[in-house]
Amino acid sequence: MAFEISSEQEMIRLMARDFAKKELEPMAAEWDRQGIFPTDAIKKMGELGLLGMMVPPALGGSGAGAVAYSLALQEIAYACASSAVTMSVANLSTEPLLKFGNKEQKEKWLLGLAEGALLGAFALTEPGAGSDPGSMTTTAELKKDKYIINGTKVFITHGRYADVINLIARTGQEKGTRGLSAFIIEKDAQGFTIGTKEEKLGLRASNTVELVFEDCEIPAKNMLGNPGEGFKVAMLALDSGRIGIASQSVGIARACLDEAISYTKQRRQFGKSVSSFQAIRFMIADAATKIEAASWLTLAAADRKDRGLKFTKEASMAKLFASETANSSAYMALQVHGGYGYTKHYKVERLYRDARATTIYEGTSEIQRIVIAREVIKE
Ligand code: CAA
Repeated sequence: MAFEISSEQEMIRLMARDFAKKELEPMAAEWDRQGIFPTDAIKKMGELGLLGMMVPPALGGSGAGAVAYSLALQEIAYACASSAVTMSVANLSTEPLLKFGNKEQKEKWLLGLAEGALLGAFALTEPGAGSDPGSMTTTAELKKDKYIINGTKVFITHGRYADVINLIARTGQEKGTRGLSAFIIEKDAQGFTIGTKEEKLGLRASNTVELVFEDCEIPAKNMLGNPGEGFKVAMLALDSGRIGIASQSVGIARACLDEAISYTKQRRQFGKSVSSFQAIRFMIADAATKIEAASWLTLAAADRKDRGLKFTKEASMAKLFASETANSSAYMALQVHGGYGYTKHYKVERLYRDARATTIYEGTSEIQRIVIAREVIKE
């Protein structure tokens, strides 16, 4: 097997690392404390081409591909996991337009999203439809040349700051995953409002809101793809999204490992540095090994995407393993900090809270296992 990171991909990784170190790391703790969405930093990420990495240059993107995207996202997550989820969802939101958008839709929205002039969000989840999006009740009813949308979406990442939202809603009478369609909603659509902002355990610098549609009118030409294709649009977008969350998880896990190493080297007990104790060294060895495996699983899924191969199973494996690794690494890092890790004085406390979301959103670990088992048994 030959897999090498190219010099272009390495340059992108270093560019993202440099940006994260200068623009995110110094502010991340404060943004977390105050729950501030870092608008300026996200804008700069757009200018650097980090929000449209899968979009070809002819359509405004950097065309860097999924491997470069994963490497860059790991660096962003290492410094600020909240900014990483923003980057991940922004890139995810280009996928439906890229795959299902017509020429007019691509010119109108994809160019802006890929160049970072517009921020995109993805609205699938509802209060009663989380792991099972096929049970959604938001409707889009065709009336002449308009769709009238009614319903509520929840847990929408950066919903308040998005210019353009990918929405999945029910257009047909069929039940379950059939009868759903995909649309583009612009932020100033009449009848569309932002609802409650969630106060979250972690990722507090990522904005998470409810979107409310009350007789919201949008032009019929805002539909992406054909009527009834909405579930497929969502699943294809989530396949890519899961590479993003896996990458975010690897970045968080690496930050946990580095915090653990640096603290245990300087912390002295029983007359020596605690990093010299075998109990601590084994914890570090286990975390480092899992992180290496998570990173390779993630890059393997990204590489398949770049090569135009199906990557549903690989993205779910990467997301499952990397997110569980982020959590076990955070647990380990906090444990080796002892009581200090449980305070706000050390970065591990934030990493511990941020890691927790990764096994939940974009499909829980249990949903990833369903996807993996189905694909493996099918094979
Ligand atoms: N690519 C393309 N098509 C797919 C697909 C994929 N990855 N997965 C399923 N489909 C197609 C199937 O082929 C099937 O097509 P037909 O009807 O033509 O046969 C159709 O979609 C229905 O598929 P299933 O029968 O597999 O559907 P299901 O109801 O059993 O659900 C599931 C499958 C994998 C559990 C899916 O519901 C799922 O992924 N659930 C989790 C949802 C999720 O991840 N939500 C996260 C919200 S977004 C978020 O968190 C964003 C954020 O802001 C951070």
